[in-house]
Amino acid sequence: MDRNLALETVRVTEAAALSAAKWMGRGDEKEADAAAVDAMRKSLNGMEIAGTVVIGEGERDEAPMLYIGEKVGSGAGPKLDIALDPLEGTTITAKGGSNAMAVIALAEEGGFLNAPDVYMDKIAVGAGLPDGVINIDASPAENLAELAKAKKGDVSDLVVCVLDRPRHQKLIADIRAAGARITQISDGDVGAVIATSQIETGIDIYMGIGGAPEGVLAAAALQCIGGQIQTRLVFRNDDERERGRKWGIEDFDAIYNLEDLAHGDVMFAATGVTDGAMLKGVRLSGGAAYTHSIIMRSKTGTVREIEAHHNFRRKSGYDHG
Ligand code: FBP
Repeated sequence: MDRNLALETVRVTEAAALSAAKWMGRGDEKEADAAAVDAMRKSLNGMEIAGTVVIGEGERDEAPMLYIGEKVGSGAGPKLDIALDPLEGTTITAKGGSNAMAVIALAEEGGFLNAPDVYMDKIAVGAGLPDGVINIDASPAENLAELAKAKKGDVSDLVVCVLDRPRHQKLIADIRAAGARITQISDGDVGAVIATSQIETGIDIYMGIGGAPEGVLAAAALQCIGGQIQTRLVFRNDDERERGRKWGIEDFDAIYNLEDLAHGDVMFAATGVTDGAMLKGVRLSGGAAYTHSIIMRSKTGTVREIEAHHNFRRKSGYDHG
């Protein structure tokens, strides 16, 4: 993957974030998402790549754009698989909450798990910890005890990030009983998994069930910045199991580690839509805008943050509607 692709890739998430941000707090998740999808697609198609969407907006019959299997880019450059979420946090954006972002990851062909759009149980920690410190089959108490030991601290020091969902009632009770602290988020577990690798966020571990596509995107980021993740797909009914089979899943109880979710030369980029722990949100001001993005690469481990000032009065600037 050419290193120059990094800047092109950031342009793609910037375009999606700029378009989505116009819908911040306006109560319309669909419009916010559609604006991000449309802008991301236009921008992606301007890239010199032969891209195939492997994690996208859904299957062809349910997503008019950026569907799984859609070819993107000029078709002339390197053959790449693409995982994307033009708006990670549609509800957040519609409510004007925090942590919404536009996300994309690129890998060489076959670099991502072809995850069906079902739920995924996840446990993740940041970089610099002994291999195997987390185990998806162990209880929350066991995982927290291992993590506290590895960090040479107490379980009561640890902060666990969990999506605020009724399905996590028992998980939350178990974490509390083990003595750890919790931060519950309303949405956005891509950012929550990444946060385990960013010491300033204060999050030590992520636990719980979120979307499978988001699991692949988070793993792509962890491939670049380090960290561990273990996951298992959650199939709630026969229809979802059938969907899994379509994507080649035979063992419904399989555990997917970091390497299974994303491997090889991987690039990950995100641009903030609303303010969050990792990224500032878009600022709009009469014909100009500010964006804050992050781009990382597994090959080199380089992480770049890009603050951009956009001037829409110039003809060649973004077509932002
Ligand atoms: P969207 O990008 O569709 O808004 O997803 C937000 C999100 O919170 C993800 O981060 C998470 O993985 C998933 O939704 C959880 O799903 P659910 O809202 O059904 O619990």
